[in-house]
Amino acid sequence: MPNWTNEHAKQYDELWGDLPLLAEIANWLPLQGNERLLDIGCGSGAVLAGIAERYPQCTLFGCDPMPYMVDAARKRVPSADIQQATVEDFQLAPFDVAIAANTVRHWANVERGLEHIAKHGVQTIVLVDDLAFNPSPSEFCPAISSALRWFAEQSWQVEIQYQEAFDESVIIARLKP
Ligand SMILES: C[S@@+](CC[C@H](N)C(=O)[O-])C[C@H]1O[C@@H](n2cnc3c(N)ncnc32)[C@H](O)[C@@H]1O
Repeated sequence: MPNWTNEHAKQYDELWGDLPLLAEIANWLPLQGNERLLDIGCGSGAVLAGIAERYPQCTLFGCDPMPYMVDAARKRVPSADIQQATVEDFQLAPFDVAIAANTVRHWANVERGLEHIAKHGVQTIVLVDDLAFNPSPSEFCPAISSALRWFAEQSWQVEIQYQEAFDESVIIARLKP
């Protein structure tokens, strides 16, 4: 986590931890409602809380390297299994869907992170980020561009949506059958 500290975590949570956008993300996910879902870089748990409310039958996991975030997420979503870990070293049971919101740019190595996620039986990876005014891959930041390149190299099917009201890009990558 090259540019993220526990102090950043606390500041982020105080400023943005209750942003309505974070609960809104649950509405953008391609879920049936009974999946095992991991939120990577889950922060203080606002996205997971939205998912828990909309999809109470999902089994929820989270990971974040910052102790402050892990404590806050455990309190906010007691039903979720939250681990203190990065995207490269979390150790959790297999799951169907992974989501990573506003975090990919902080990962030390995007490709290694995606490789670690893919080892856990995941069928769908969803990246949510505010990095484009226009849903064009050429305008994404280097971290998101690296992710798109990795999905193409590994033959994942990618769909890019743009949530104009929130100025958020939603990248849904599905493992080809
Ligand atoms: C901008 S916050 C986003 C938090 C939450 N996903 C949200 O949307 O509110 C970025 C999060 O990424 C986490 N993070 C930083 N480096 C990471 C890494 N290598 N692997 C996983 N998460 C990481 C930080 O601790 C922080 O909680």
